[in-house]
Amino acid sequence: MAERAALVTGGSSGIGLAIARALAEDGYGLTISSRRADKLEATAETLRSEGHEVHAIAAQIADEDEMKGVVAAHRDAYGRLDVLVNNAGVGLGEPIHELTAKKVDLQIEVNLRSLMLMTRECLPMLREAGAEHHKALIVNTASVAGKAGQAWLSVYSATKFAVIGFSQATQREVSGQGIGVTALAPGFVDTPMTEFVKEHVPAEEMIQPTDIAEAVRFLLKTSPNCVVPEIVFLRPSDSEGLL
Ligand SMILES: NC(=O)c1ccc[n+]([C@@H]2O[C@H](COP(=O)([O-])OP(=O)(O)OC[C@H]3O[C@@H](n4cnc5c(N)ncnc54)[C@H](OP(=O)(O)O)[C@@H]3O)[C@@H](O)[C@H]2O)c1
Repeated sequence: MAERAALVTGGSSGIGLAIARALAEDGYGLTISSRRADKLEATAETLRSEGHEVHAIAAQIADEDEMKGVVAAHRDAYGRLDVLVNNAGVGLGEPIHELTAKKVDLQIEVNLRSLMLMTRECLPMLREAGAEHHKALIVNTASVAGKAGQAWLSVYSATKFAVIGFSQATQREVSGQGIGVTALAPGFVDTPMTEFVKEHVPAEEMIQPTDIAEAVRFLLKTSPNCVVPEIVFLRPSDSEGLL
């Protein structure tokens, strides 16, 4: 049984998979969760074939009971949680004058509400880990769209701004409990989510999922005296006013 354990939502592909793989390589017992069971199980099999201990729990993360089921299954498997990666997310582009309530709700529920409730659900185990070794970690995947509002991605941007705010508030609440909270804010990363833009921004010019995973490794290596509220990842040509 691994000495430390991590839970990664949206762990079946892209950024979540890269973080999950890095944590597994570093000896963490792993739970990955995502929506589509077949895709998730295929990912889990790949990680197992690489020699890693992986539990895979399919769940619609926006459903509170299903989300609780993921945490309960993780607790049953490992009895502890050292790293929570709130990464599941969805981006649905629409101009503001055509916003549809269904897409607004879905983005708020998946990107924000589920992350909030997942954090609540995991805090008892994270507090135990923090008391033990002072380096428990919550990573919330935000976006550069959460640093500068993006046209046609207004709702997505709003949820990611909120993720950064929630991350800061969480850090304040867990101050002194051995838990660090970091919001990750990448620009275009080469994942299935950015397929729509690869005609204009080639995949090889995008940030790589392993870049994000290395940042999580860095967060786990800093001393307990050092908290990192957020990390922004940009491509050299990015011009969202952040460089
Ligand atoms: N790629 C980028 O350029 C970029 C930039 C900034 C931030 N981000 C953020 O990074 C995170 C990961 O995205 P990615 O780029 O790695 O895309 P991805 O490969 O499409 O991964 C998204 C993950 O979230 C899961 N997911 C989506 N909706 C879900 C739901 N309702 N319930 C449970 N799981 C759900 C997906 O599972 P299924 O496939 O089964 O739905 C998948 O595992 C997201 O929060 C995204 O907003 C991405």
